[in-house]
Amino acid sequence: MDLEDLNEKIKRCTRCPLHLYRKNAVPGEGSLKLGIMIVGEAPGASEDEEGRPFVGVAGQLLTKTLAKLGISRDDVYITNVVKCRPPGNRTPTREEIEACLPYLLQQIVILKPKRIVALGLISGKTLLKLVGREVDKIGNVRGKCFRGQVAGVNLEICLTYHPAAVLRNPHLREVFENDLATFFGGGLPPLNK
Ligand code: URA
Repeated sequence: MDLEDLNEKIKRCTRCPLHLYRKNAVPGEGSLKLGIMIVGEAPGASEDEEGRPFVGVAGQLLTKTLAKLGISRDDVYITNVVKCRPPGNRTPTREEIEACLPYLLQQIVILKPKRIVALGLISGKTLLKLVGREVDKIGNVRGKCFRGQVAGVNLEICLTYHPAAVLRNPHLREVFENDLATFFGGGLPPLNK
């Protein structure tokens, strides 16, 4: 299966009740030019409206922060753990995350990222669980990268705050920017194997 087939499958998905509320599923967009995939939590209202990831206010902060670092969002593959908007932007349930996880795994198999940047606790928790790690506070793992194998692909999972959290807590902005600069730059943090 290629990415286009997978995107079509995601757009028609009825695996969990979130399909009942969506305007558009949001498979993801971008490229693996830099070898990096960014994974958020789930689409919000703007993303549901447009069928594109990270295009609302949190997305604009992400796009602007990347641009400040000289990175075009077209050079990164941007997606979410859950591909359909949870009503009222509530946190996706465990069942919804599990129902949607095969899509993220297939994206990883097709795109073979060298590094995944997980934004926020839901994304970080879901991804680190795939390499056998439990996490219950983003503050405990942010700024760190963990090496592992996901769906047969060797990669690093690097964690930082979700841009929506940065908008709510402006004092996190500097750390968020520094984390992205580190994850996208040459100077990698020590690997936590
Ligand atoms: N928040 C997310 O986690 N993902 C999006 O696509 C938009 C906002």
